[in-house]
Amino acid sequence: MSYYFPKDFLWGSACSAYQIEGAWNEGGKGMSCHDHYARLPEYAHYYEMGRPDSCSDFYHHYREDIDIMAEHGLKTFRLSFAWPRICPNGPDDVNQEAIDYYNDMLNYLLEKNIVPFMDLYHWDLPQWVLERGGATNYEFVEWFEKYARVCYAAFGDKVKYWSTVNEPNFSIFSGYYAVNGDGAGSFPPFEQDRTKAFTACHIMNLAHMRAVKAYREMGFGGKIGAVIDLFPMYPYSLSDERDIYAADRRFDFYAGKWLGPMLLGKYPEIFDDAYAQYMPENFQQEIADAYEEMDFIGDNYYGPGYARYTDATPEKFELCPDPEAGANGSWQEFVGMKVYPEGLYDILNLIHKKYHPKEIIVTENGVAFRRDEANPAVPTEIDDTRRIKYMRAHIMMLSRAIESGIPVKGYYTWAIEDTYEHGLGCNYDFGLIAINYDTMERTPRSSFKWYSEFIKANT
Ligand code: BGC
Repeated sequence: MSYYFPKDFLWGSACSAYQIEGAWNEGGKGMSCHDHYARLPEYAHYYEMGRPDSCSDFYHHYREDIDIMAEHGLKTFRLSFAWPRICPNGPDDVNQEAIDYYNDMLNYLLEKNIVPFMDLYHWDLPQWVLERGGATNYEFVEWFEKYARVCYAAFGDKVKYWSTVNEPNFSIFSGYYAVNGDGAGSFPPFEQDRTKAFTACHIMNLAHMRAVKAYREMGFGGKIGAVIDLFPMYPYSLSDERDIYAADRRFDFYAGKWLGPMLLGKYPEIFDDAYAQYMPENFQQEIADAYEEMDFIGDNYYGPGYARYTDATPEKFELCPDPEAGANGSWQEFVGMKVYPEGLYDILNLIHKKYHPKEIIVTENGVAFRRDEANPAVPTEIDDTRRIKYMRAHIMMLSRAIESGIPVKGYYTWAIEDTYEHGLGCNYDFGLIAINYDTMERTPRSSFKWYSEFIKANT
């Protein structure tokens, strides 16, 4: 069948600096929060010693990897700049070696006709930022703007797609509060403090707006947005209105704390009742004053969530299991994520109807398979027919979304190559390119070949 994708659709694949670059202490790079915590014995269980330091060593192998992308006709590659590489020791410290490195990498992408999409911050907060309070400190807004301006000035002529932040639910909020329930955060600084969590959320929103404003002021004429993990929150029971109410509130908590400010200039109502006590004073006004419209929203979609009503907390929701678990086929859970392509259509439709972004880009979507525990350096499933099935099913939902008038402009698989996963190490393979961590040999998987043919047929 035909899929009817626009000719200029962004067919891509993504990754982040921290998850593939390696070279953790080379090229003048400073410490990221993970470099720091991975070395503390009490946090070692979040990390897999050694691996995040080197990962797939993209830092040294980028030409080889970009060659493989080009051979497969990839149109665009999404990556992040490593903030601690660019500003190793403080807001005014700019590392020229990092600027040169990224310029070489970007030039090589452009030489191969691959459009770069770059994130400013994808999880690797510089340790100096964290030591000064991270995003709980209002000065974070200035540090982030300075760093953003350095990047725009250095790379603005080459990069025309920018995202300020990737999944701040994890990289900001969950440093102080587990996003999927109460309890200690699962991200540096691994604290448990709701006031800090909501304050950091607010300050990240302000920093995002400053970075968008700065980009416009510098006049490069590209597009800038933000990337959030967005997925539908389904009610446990469709016939119980209280569950529907609860699921909406859960969505407003999880996604609305970014979507509301970034797209509508206002936090959702649940912030006025359940969360106002944890927010800085005048939080609604501060957002309204700082509001800066962005060009697109990026959606990282992996699978849906479920919630139901409870009276036990002011939030009035609690997470619950999928009520139909077991009833929808056999190919379900990898890394704890339910595979549910229809959820991609539902979330794109919801964002479009409720938040009216100018454009939506699916900035991540993918599936992982576990490596053999006895042989973890060796990649799994080179002939990954399961991944092809996954990709095809999700891409079909994109086509349906576009035909129903939702402005979806691009799709990035996660990930271009096998990655380091926070909390899971290098044990789950997400890549279109398989990596052998002993030899650093790269092998394109069957899914890349399939994607390559699909891209060719649809551009
Ligand atoms: C993140 C990635 C991560 C992926 C798979 C997203 O949450 O942006 O950094 O590797 O999901 O878990």
